[in-house]
Amino acid sequence: MPDKTLTGDVTYPSEETVQQARVPRWEELAAEAEKDYLGFWAREASELYWSEPWTQVLDDSRKPFYQWFIGGKTNIAYNCLDRHVRTPHRNKLALLWEGEKGEFRSFSYFALRREVCRFANLLRSLGIKKGDRVTLYMGRIPELPIAMLACARIGAIHSVVYGGFTVEALAERIEDSKSKVLITCDGAYQRGKIVPLKQIADEALQRTGTIESVLVVRRTGQEVNMEQGRDLWYHELMNLPIANVDHPIEMLDAETPLFLLYTSGTTGKPKAILHTHGGYMVGTYTTLKYVFDIREEDRYWCAADPGWITGHSYIVYGPLLNGATSFLYEGAPTFPYPNRWWQMIEKYGINILYTAPTAIRGLMRFGEAWPNRHDLSSLRLLGSVGEPINPEAWRWYHTVIGRGRCPIMDTWWQTETGMFMITPMPSVPLKPGSGTRPFPGLHMDILNEEGVPVGANEEGYLVIQNPWPAMMRTLYNDPQRYVDQYWSKFPGMYLTGDSARRDEDGYYWIIGRVDDVIKVSGYRLGTAEIESALVSHPAVAEAAAIGLPHEIKGNAIHAFVILKAGQARHDHLTEELRSHVSHELGPIAKPEKIEIVDSLPKTRSGKIMRRVLKARALGQDPGNLATLEE
Ligand code: WTA
Repeated sequence: MPDKTLTGDVTYPSEETVQQARVPRWEELAAEAEKDYLGFWAREASELYWSEPWTQVLDDSRKPFYQWFIGGKTNIAYNCLDRHVRTPHRNKLALLWEGEKGEFRSFSYFALRREVCRFANLLRSLGIKKGDRVTLYMGRIPELPIAMLACARIGAIHSVVYGGFTVEALAERIEDSKSKVLITCDGAYQRGKIVPLKQIADEALQRTGTIESVLVVRRTGQEVNMEQGRDLWYHELMNLPIANVDHPIEMLDAETPLFLLYTSGTTGKPKAILHTHGGYMVGTYTTLKYVFDIREEDRYWCAADPGWITGHSYIVYGPLLNGATSFLYEGAPTFPYPNRWWQMIEKYGINILYTAPTAIRGLMRFGEAWPNRHDLSSLRLLGSVGEPINPEAWRWYHTVIGRGRCPIMDTWWQTETGMFMITPMPSVPLKPGSGTRPFPGLHMDILNEEGVPVGANEEGYLVIQNPWPAMMRTLYNDPQRYVDQYWSKFPGMYLTGDSARRDEDGYYWIIGRVDDVIKVSGYRLGTAEIESALVSHPAVAEAAAIGLPHEIKGNAIHAFVILKAGQARHDHLTEELRSHVSHELGPIAKPEKIEIVDSLPKTRSGKIMRRVLKARALGQDPGNLATLEE
């Protein structure tokens, strides 16, 4: 039994939870990993298939450019599919899918592998080779994971752009990655409406010149423009003999790039986080296995979007590596009614639900009657990710959804970390709002400005002290920025960009970002991206964006703009600017409010002091203004 001496508001696991857990206890794994960290990861890695064994687990001779499983050859797509097709798992459901309109599709491991092989052959026929970049801009349909796995299979690098982004965000990501092929859909269903993905892609393609072919998956069926010689229908190509099921897989060096995922950072353009086949595979496999105690009979649902890291690691790769059954749902949680999710949990007998605090708060708003109408007794474990979960939402999730029986795995991690970093395991005592402790073997600390560890309950910079297999390898095309942004403030340590505190029990509490990243509904956006979308409007000279607390979204974007000289302030201008951001970047980035101002607080070197804007908006003291220009 776990010790019952923890301080504060603690929820201890029930006897039943402890007894039923089929994974070792946190303490046991932590002891193993502490004794021999590399041995621990090597043992995990050896549960997967390698055509050539590694000769070295970790190469830290060129830090911070760490490498893992040197000399090993593998392929993550082989481990996700082929490995299982050779076992009785062949007929097990790999992927269950429900469309917003209620359609259902499912794939056994055998069937999923077949589709992936056919897609891989198709990509080959379009001239895609190992190392080439392919951009995916799709809705939540099975073809998205299929396309990701097809890229992995041939050693191409996928770059998934979230379907909630629009023109400029897509164009920038295509341009930066120099993708040759774009895979998209005619449209995506969202709350009964069609998001015209192909149309948005067409507009984006006018701003970038690297794409040679566009593969279009038909989903919504409306008319779309197909450009001769560039655009191809997926379903037509899949009928051709080139989409053959025979696809000999190539084994790749462990450090072969697997994907790029663009994410917002402190300044300027989004950064392309690079992950590789070997280490990412071992990290996602291991963490999902232990944290969600994935079992043979489970139906597991990660309700994120595959277009973000959570979907990459824990809808697609982690579950398939574990031979699990992963559920994917196309639409919004509250469409057509606020019981949509609960209905599907009942219908499919979901055992594990992993979602974000913003979704919980959004559903909580509709009251208990909606979930109470459904049998949610299949649920065994719950998960949370993306932002700190407020205790009120935690309690609702725990009692109303989990009926007090299901522990909540509050997992802290990032696009950069690839895998869970601070997280409970099923029998760890929980405190609402804390992700508990680092995953076994990981060492983290909380430092003050001078790099000195702070005391219990004091706030500071959250850093990671030792490397881990699923860590990003670099920023694609920008290794210097990788070094500067993550490894320079406190030499030798990985800077997370979050502030946190650690209580007397060693439990971590994430406070929030300390950089210019805003988490809106769990989505990561950069102030720089929003500001640059605003100044791309002809009326705007300068802009500043900040995040302010919001009941459902966690944070909402507020923007301040200075108009160009001579620009008249007509009534609809702020509305027009909000729509402009939505058109350029995406509806998720649409500011809640835009204020037209005459000046912005700046430092003498011309940097906008967002801290001052934020304090003013919240009616707080802006603190030290010594560096303020005026
Ligand atoms: C925040 C998402 C508190 C944090 C997987 C981090 C969290 C950023 C949690 C990464 C959590 C993520 N509790 N905060 N459980 N999980 N965050 O790259 O600020 O989209 O730095 O990855 O989300 O966001 P990203």
